Amino acid sequence: MHFKKRESKPISDEECEICRALNEATKNEPRPWDKTSITVVGIFGAFVAGTAALTVSFIAPAFRKVILPYVPATTLQVQNVMKALTGRQGSVLDIGSGDGRVVIEAARHGFHGYGVELNYWLVLFSRYQAWRQGMGHSATFFRKDLWKTDMSKYNNIVIFGVDTLMGGLEKKFEKEITLDTRVLVSRFPLPNWQPVNQVGHGLDAVWTYMRPDHPDYEQSKISKDVVKGNYKKESRSNDNFGFTGNQKQV
Ligand SMILES: C[S@@+](CC[C@H](N)C(=O)[O-])C[C@H]1O[C@@H](n2cnc3c(N)ncnc32)[C@H](O)[C@@H]1O
Repeated sequence: MHFKKRESKPISDEECEICRALNEATKNEPRPWDKTSITVVGIFGAFVAGTAALTVSFIAPAFRKVILPYVPATTLQVQNVMKALTGRQGSVLDIGSGDGRVVIEAARHGFHGYGVELNYWLVLFSRYQAWRQGMGHSATFFRKDLWKTDMSKYNNIVIFGVDTLMGGLEKKFEKEITLDTRVLVSRFPLPNWQPVNQVGHGLDAVWTYMRPDHPDYEQSKISKDVVKGNYKKESRSNDNFGFTGNQKQV
């Protein structure tokens, strides 16, 4: 088999002109990744990444075993927490501190407020709010999982929880809180412990708990049926809970 060697033809003057013209034309073409394009793509990418990060922080708690969504406390609920804290001192820890409103209000009432919160953006926002309201020195926020938080360090603990959370939390309190610690609960009561005080009614009720082995527990505890009745009604308008007990401080 014979391969014919390719002969290179000399380029004519006309062809040479065409090459030159093509060379000139491509020189003036815009480059595909000039500075403006890179900036636009960069801004868009940052926007998409930022939006994704923000969205994920808010929906991530929904994929946990126990779902505790961001539902901030009402003004009345915060006021009731402060009333329930009357006579108490030291530190207040809000478990799942959201935008920091309970912690900041506790700081305003002379406590050192602490918040643990899973959502990083809410932690940043809480720190900003504390600083803006002049409470930065006595309100501290951690980006932390409540299950990994040591509760033994705090004098008062606040939780605005959900039903499915309360059993696990009660077990954690049993192991970790001291005799002097008080736990303030709103929305859903602890399943087994009985509260020793109640402030407010219906959805705005705040119950105070102490360890059941506290010497004052037996004489102070409120009937579980009363608490359950309140919890089932969960109504602000139809406020006929019936418990008019003295709101003693514990
Ligand atoms: C019902 S909101 C309470 C907000 C705040 N305590 C208030 O009363 O305004 C519950 C908060 O707990 C946070 N959270 C959910 N799971 C958590 C976890 N495992 N550890 C810490 N915070 C958590 C949520 O991001 C949400 O902000």
